[in-house]
Amino acid sequence: MNEFVNIALPKGRLGEKVYEMFAASGYRCPELENPDRRLTFENKEAGVRYFCVKPSDVAIYVEKGAADIGVAGKDILLEYKPDVYELLDVGLGKCRMCVAAPKNFRDDNRRTLRVATKFVHTAKEHFSRTGREIDIIKLNGSIELAPILGLSDVIVDIVETGTTLKQNGLVVIDTLFDISARLIANKSGYRFKREKINEIKTKLETCKENKDDKNS
Ligand code: PRP
Repeated sequence: MNEFVNIALPKGRLGEKVYEMFAASGYRCPELENPDRRLTFENKEAGVRYFCVKPSDVAIYVEKGAADIGVAGKDILLEYKPDVYELLDVGLGKCRMCVAAPKNFRDDNRRTLRVATKFVHTAKEHFSRTGREIDIIKLNGSIELAPILGLSDVIVDIVETGTTLKQNGLVVIDTLFDISARLIANKSGYRFKREKINEIKTKLETCKENKDDKNS
């Protein structure tokens, strides 16, 4: 029996690169390449079924078993700590988690630091390590606006090229960790479909190595 492996793919820019890697590894799904509003696609011969979900939701689909595997950013894995296996660093979506502030920012320890972020746990963990008292302002996007409008003193956010910070007069004042996309697996899904999931992992790994060789 050709059992399907259900794969949660992040939608958007990262998702396109991730899908290209699956396609180059032998898991192409032509229907997915003609985008319409459908969110599920399958390739019977290759035994894969793709679900296109919001990048920040991939880990939930995989943790709950709605998908057997998926590709999620390390930022999401560190923020939500889902109970999943991390199988492979696929090497895509490279960026870093940073604290940033307006160019002229000087920290005043007598005041509680106001921190705007999507990554509440990550920010809390970081400032509890440094012993700095903070108030969190949870936002869902356009975080860079917060210090400009006086809503926060600093932000904790993802920096990729640095363009968004630069264009909004902000600078990095601390780097928390490097981020890249990871192949993750549901724990019981991995037990039951180990062979097929390992086959996918190995092929993605080979694809990544070939790409690394080309770039070196
Ligand atoms: C992310 C992040 C920064 C930006 C960084 O935002 O939150 O705003 O990318 O990229 P850069 O360093 O290359 O400029 P995203 O595009 O995901 O949108 P968001 O505002 O909804 O978070």
